Amino acid sequence: MSEPGGPDVLVEREVDDPTPAAGEVLIEVAAAGVNRADVGQRQGSYPPPHGAPAWPGLEASGIIVRVGHGVAGWAIGDRVCALLPGGGYASLAVARANQLLPVPEHINLVDAAGLPEAVATVWSNVFLLGALRAGETLLVHGGSSGVGTMAVQLGRAFGCRVAVTAGSRAKLAACERLGADILTDYTQEDFVAAIAAATDGAGADMILDSIGGAYLDRNVNALARHGRIVLIGNQSGEPGAFAIGRLMSKWGSIAATTLRARPESEKDEIIASVRENVWPLVDARQVVPVIDTRFALSDARLAHERLESSAHIGKLLLLP
Ligand SMILES: NC(=O)c1ccc[n+]([C@@H]2O[C@H](COP(=O)([O-])OP(=O)(O)OC[C@H]3O[C@@H](n4cnc5c(N)ncnc54)[C@H](OP(=O)(O)O)[C@@H]3O)[C@@H](O)[C@H]2O)c1
Repeated sequence: MSEPGGPDVLVEREVDDPTPAAGEVLIEVAAAGVNRADVGQRQGSYPPPHGAPAWPGLEASGIIVRVGHGVAGWAIGDRVCALLPGGGYASLAVARANQLLPVPEHINLVDAAGLPEAVATVWSNVFLLGALRAGETLLVHGGSSGVGTMAVQLGRAFGCRVAVTAGSRAKLAACERLGADILTDYTQEDFVAAIAAATDGAGADMILDSIGGAYLDRNVNALARHGRIVLIGNQSGEPGAFAIGRLMSKWGSIAATTLRARPESEKDEIIASVRENVWPLVDARQVVPVIDTRFALSDARLAHERLESSAHIGKLLLLP
């Protein structure tokens, strides 16, 4: 991207091959995942962290082709997917060894690029921070999104009741196939009423929200006693207000996080926890990448246009 702007500023360029430093590996990229943060980076509102490549890409899959000093447990030829600070939209990408995950034989190496961001986001926010437990009700806004399709699968796999909002019947049907129990088309119905009706008025124990300000008050209304709201985005762009007394009376809590900007050591810990707790479910085929469209890397512009249209269900991938 030579300048901030619309999808047209994404053009393919030759750059020097990156070199893995100590603790890093070089990956020959099979595919890179496309994320909302990439759109912010393209528009100039979400610059890459210090030291990250200037081109976007927060996750990728591929084969290890070089191993830096001090890396243990990984070798040239390993099939991996990885969380990246940037630089995934490329044929070669450097990743921290501590942020690699092995790709099981039954998962297509390309499709594995759709796993790291969504799995790390859902695991760190819903399970580590939100402490979701079996038997609880999880509400996921934007259930058909990349993050949403993962939240539905993990909520279901850990024995929870999963509620989703989405903007069309086709998106809700996709969520239902993944295991969602309570389906709300937010263009037609109020999710607060839908959650109340489905839970005998108890509400949702945990709400994963990327809509932000515009949903804050209604999220508090939809929350159960001891409920937790975790904010991971503010797609509405609004500041938000809520009835503090109502949150107090529910002994509720609201937390908010980002993933890319966390210190690398925290991301290492999240990936280690993902490997221990989520990867057995991936190995057992209980959790799968949900892929909407695979684009050529040279068509990154088209992938961004599709993401911004919100027509997709699941993840968009770029293949160099
Ligand atoms: N904080 C973090 O650590 C972190 C990490 C990863 C992602 N995120 C954020 O999480 C969000 C989801 O990421 P993603 O990669 O999954 O993006 P995505 O696939 O583009 O999904 C965005 C989704 O939001 C839904 N949506 C928009 N307005 C809505 C509304 N009023 N009610 C319900 N759903 C609505 C859209 O569905 P409809 O078409 O149905 O409206 C769309 O499916 C993004 O905001 C992203 O920035 C945060």
